[in-house]
Amino acid sequence: MVMGRMKLLLAGAFVGIIGCASMLGKRDIKGEGDYDLKKLRELYSSGDASKWPSPGIDPSVAAGYNEIGLLPPVLFPADNPFNASKAELGKYLFYDPRLSTSGQIACASCHDPQLGWGDGKRVAFGHDRKLGARNAMTIWAFGHDRKLGARNAMTIWNTAFYTSLFWDGRALSLEDQARFPVQDHLEMNESLDAMEKRVQRYNGYRAMFAKAFEGDSTINLDRIFKAIATFERTIVSPKSRFDLFISGKPDVINDQELLGLHLFRTKAGCVNCHNGGLFADNKFHNDGQTLFASANEDLGLYNVTGKREDVGKFKTPSLREVVNTGPWMHHGNFPTLKDVVLLYNLGNPAPIQKSYKGDRDSLLPKTSPLLKKLNLSDEEVNAVIAFLSTITTTPRRLNPPQKFPD
Ligand code: HEC
Ligand code: HEC
Repeated sequence: MVMGRMKLLLAGAFVGIIGCASMLGKRDIKGEGDYDLKKLRELYSSGDASKWPSPGIDPSVAAGYNEIGLLPPVLFPADNPFNASKAELGKYLFYDPRLSTSGQIACASCHDPQLGWGDGKRVAFGHDRKLGARNAMTIWAFGHDRKLGARNAMTIWNTAFYTSLFWDGRALSLEDQARFPVQDHLEMNESLDAMEKRVQRYNGYRAMFAKAFEGDSTINLDRIFKAIATFERTIVSPKSRFDLFISGKPDVINDQELLGLHLFRTKAGCVNCHNGGLFADNKFHNDGQTLFASANEDLGLYNVTGKREDVGKFKTPSLREVVNTGPWMHHGNFPTLKDVVLLYNLGNPAPIQKSYKGDRDSLLPKTSPLLKKLNLSDEEVNAVIAFLSTITTTPRRLNPPQKFPD
């Protein structure tokens, strides 16, 4: 009996000690480099990025380097200016499953605001619930009929700021992008012609087109895609805690997140590619993710350009909202952000050279020279992950259209 109570007391004291230690750990994060967090907090929240410690970037990135910061205002193209009726029409079209052959798949089926504007799946399910794969148009247009890998549905958060779309950049504008999923046999599987005719049949849409396009009720593909693109350009992240912090609110992020921000810009080298207000450089890099010579091999940009130097390059994705857009990477094989950051910590090892049949050796992917072993401690890895939550905002409800025009 007495022994039992002693044990309980001891156990209680032990838990107490662990509790204190972890609280101390939280208050006093030092990491390897003995960071002066008080000073860092002052500099980063000063409201003046020129006071920030200099970024740890490669000389090849330094020219024209775009510091992380606030998102700029959205620029609408001259031939597709914004108006609220057009954005509203675009929202209806985005949610309308009647744009697909089966009448069951809308853009929103794979780009759901509750799932970070993606689908939460490793790779997308589409028409007939088939696994999404590379777009058939690309194969037709470029003739690269290599084994093509399935891809993770990208978020449409902040797509207004990209200069090209898709993991391999094969669409050059949001207006251009929308025709791909409509035709893709594994996505909406509808011919553009048939889709255009179907939308034309609904008188309710006619009135909405007139409102959106200066009184002219013509319904055509060009306008359908312009309206969808206009809606997409309104899906812009609201101010995140990071944005408030760097605009002069020193208390909205904690010490761990602050250390993560500093590491992201320095020792971890993330800003070599994830930079600017978008946290993406609008360029393509090889992140070591081709799954070379496996059934899911995907050579990325190479499939579009046919250039050897593009083997395995993918578009740098924005990291805004990234906590809510998992699973991650173009193949969706990373179920946690820790997996992603641990990969970077190892320097994204490239596949080991061996002999492949035919000309395969010459296609052996080379990981970007910007990626090196980082030697981040476990505490630092966790800090970088914590930082990512400061550029992710709380999901808000968006009311989908209740009824589609007939
Ligand atoms: C079956 C699921 C599915 C449907 C339906 C679908 N998408 Fe996608 N979407 C994807 C996948 C997968 C990708 C990435 C494909 C790739 O890179 O090859 C993607 C990529 C995109 C991108 C590129 C984002 C970026 O950062 O480059 C945009 C924009 C987009 N989709 C909009 C749409 C629109 C508009 C529609 C409806 C007309 C639509 N999607 C229908 C799965 C889907
Ligand atoms: C050489 C350029 C480069 C550097 C440096 C870099 N990234 Fe990336 N990052 C990319 C590219 C390209 C992808 C997409 C790769 C793919 O899917 O094949 C990516 C993908 C990601 C993703 C997945 C996003 C998604 O939507 O699936 C995360 C998270 C990420 N990076 C975080 C980081 C962090 C944290 C660092 C620093 C430790 C970092 N990156 C450094 C280029 C880079």
